[in-house]
Amino acid sequence: MTTSHPELHAPLSRSDFGPDFQWGCSTSAFQIEGGADEGGRVPSIWDTFCGTPGKIRDASDGKLACDHFHLWPQDMALAQSLGLNAYRFSISWPRIFSARGAAPNEAGLAFYSDLVDGMLARGMVPWVTLYHWDLPQYLQDEGGWTNRDTVAAFVEYADVVTKRLGDRVKNWITHNEPWCTAIHGNLDGMHAPGLKSVPTALQVCHNVLVSHGLAVPVIRANVAGAKVGIALSLHPVQAASDAAADQEAVQRHDAFRNRWFLDALHGRGYPQVPLTMLGADAPRVEAGDMDAIAVATDFLGVNYYFPEVVKHDPAGGFLHTSVVLPEGRQRTDFGWEVAPEGLTALLTRIATEYGAGDLYVTENGSCYDDHPDAAGNVDDAARRDYLVRHLHAVLAARKQGVPVKGYFAWSLLDNFEWSEGYLRRFGLAYVDFDTQRRTLKTSGKWYQGFLRG
Ligand code: FCB
Repeated sequence: MTTSHPELHAPLSRSDFGPDFQWGCSTSAFQIEGGADEGGRVPSIWDTFCGTPGKIRDASDGKLACDHFHLWPQDMALAQSLGLNAYRFSISWPRIFSARGAAPNEAGLAFYSDLVDGMLARGMVPWVTLYHWDLPQYLQDEGGWTNRDTVAAFVEYADVVTKRLGDRVKNWITHNEPWCTAIHGNLDGMHAPGLKSVPTALQVCHNVLVSHGLAVPVIRANVAGAKVGIALSLHPVQAASDAAADQEAVQRHDAFRNRWFLDALHGRGYPQVPLTMLGADAPRVEAGDMDAIAVATDFLGVNYYFPEVVKHDPAGGFLHTSVVLPEGRQRTDFGWEVAPEGLTALLTRIATEYGAGDLYVTENGSCYDDHPDAAGNVDDAARRDYLVRHLHAVLAARKQGVPVKGYFAWSLLDNFEWSEGYLRRFGLAYVDFDTQRRTLKTSGKWYQGFLRG
């Protein structure tokens, strides 16, 4: 497999990316923190979802996860040892507000304030995501993201957090992957809150984007020198065949997977298709919403994992498409296609079609089920190759003039992979969930060698 990819043998050095390039790892609160009942944290929709039988494949939960709530100094030392100059993490909203209208929870704010100091002291620039899917359960009880009051609550939460951390944190990501929040959470039911309704999913999607738009000026007002953006999950879309029906399916699929977000954020509104196909299921859009969503930002976060191949399928949801998995393509243990050229294509497409604002690869990584060998080494050569090939892909985009300014590997640690529980490992460091011992894998050692020169 290795020899068939010439870029694996091509020279690559940190300096190829320029002196200011942000080199990071990404994590998220629910996936690593644990400390579920500590520091005044209240339940999120993910605690509820994990507590519902049958939702998580290994019946696990996030109560302990990587115990990062306690082990964060060790994790920051690990991140520093890699040679990172940036680190992306998310804030757990239910650590900050225990009820709608409650005063901010000082213990929660102090936890993140200490964490930020810890990464700054170790030479890493903090990149904070405000919403990485762990909505407070008390807000879901009132309708969650379908309720416009959740939009107001998010803006208040953003206000409090940026006031507290904005003296030290300059890089802010409002939302992680609104497509996943909306669709996995409310249409296919794979994620919390586990609903299955087209109109609900579309309203959630819209309200999340509105909350982004309304939070941006608040963040700017609170943070001198703020850089604000959003992180989208984006996928190149290919047709399953040359048939006209499949070619058209690509257009529809792309229109919702990618353009729904990119167009709206860039002031072009939602694409007519699928808007017309949605009919009465289309979201309620209030006066001013689309302008709010189109607020100017400083960068776009691109989360890239794999391209999608689609075919026309009259039974395939509101888009009448379904995703197919062609034979013969390289895949990770999660079944996700390995296609680094898709990352180059995606980055150049965004720059070409939407203008050359700064781009950051805010997530990219691979799932392989490697474990320690007898000597204690975790030899995840496939993950290392994935990383190397995707860095070449980023460099290829930069050489075409695309302003990609940073790369964040998903993830520093093996962690709680949502409905897959602890069965899917994405870490550059292996986590033994019985002992909480971290072991740098071959991929992590490669990244370390690459970054430290
Ligand atoms: C992304 C999520 C992240 C992680 C990776 C594997 O969609 O943002 O939390 O689950 O996938």
